[in-house]
Amino acid sequence: MEHEITLVVNGTARRVTVPARRLLSDCLRHDLGLTGTHVGCEHGVCGCCTVLLDGRPVRSCLTFAVSVDGAELTTVEGLSSGGRLSPVQRAFAECHGLQCGFCTPGFLCTVTALLEENPAPTEEEVLEGISGNLCRCTGYQNIVKAVHRAAELLAEEA
Ligand code: FES
Ligand code: FES
Repeated sequence: MEHEITLVVNGTARRVTVPARRLLSDCLRHDLGLTGTHVGCEHGVCGCCTVLLDGRPVRSCLTFAVSVDGAELTTVEGLSSGGRLSPVQRAFAECHGLQCGFCTPGFLCTVTALLEENPAPTEEEVLEGISGNLCRCTGYQNIVKAVHRAAELLAEEA
């Protein structure tokens, strides 16, 4: 059975018809063409598929699209505005917080929410905040630097 739902994605209402078992990750990527959300493990471990649901990070591979009917979602495509990268995105670029980039959309969404909630995290809070996202390339050091740099950029822009 198919269901017609509305998702407000990156500020735009999108109507889509999906089977009840359609994962949000597949809905975003295949139905809405938002392939910036990556899918790694598909069972809630790697964090690659993280998007923001009403501002909070969720694993889209563990979320049924029908269960978020009417919700506001932000994907990595929605982090920049007016062609300008967000402070978190700029910090990752500046600090070389990525290599292959596969994990990056998930990190960017997680860190955006982390800094929204805690604008000046300690080292420990950063480590805990990103502990649900796995990266196979960077060794995490530059990601941690990028989070602190993003906090600085956000403070400068506040
Ligand atoms: S793809 Fe969703 S947590 Fe890995
Ligand atoms: S940059 Fe390659 S997995 Fe993180």
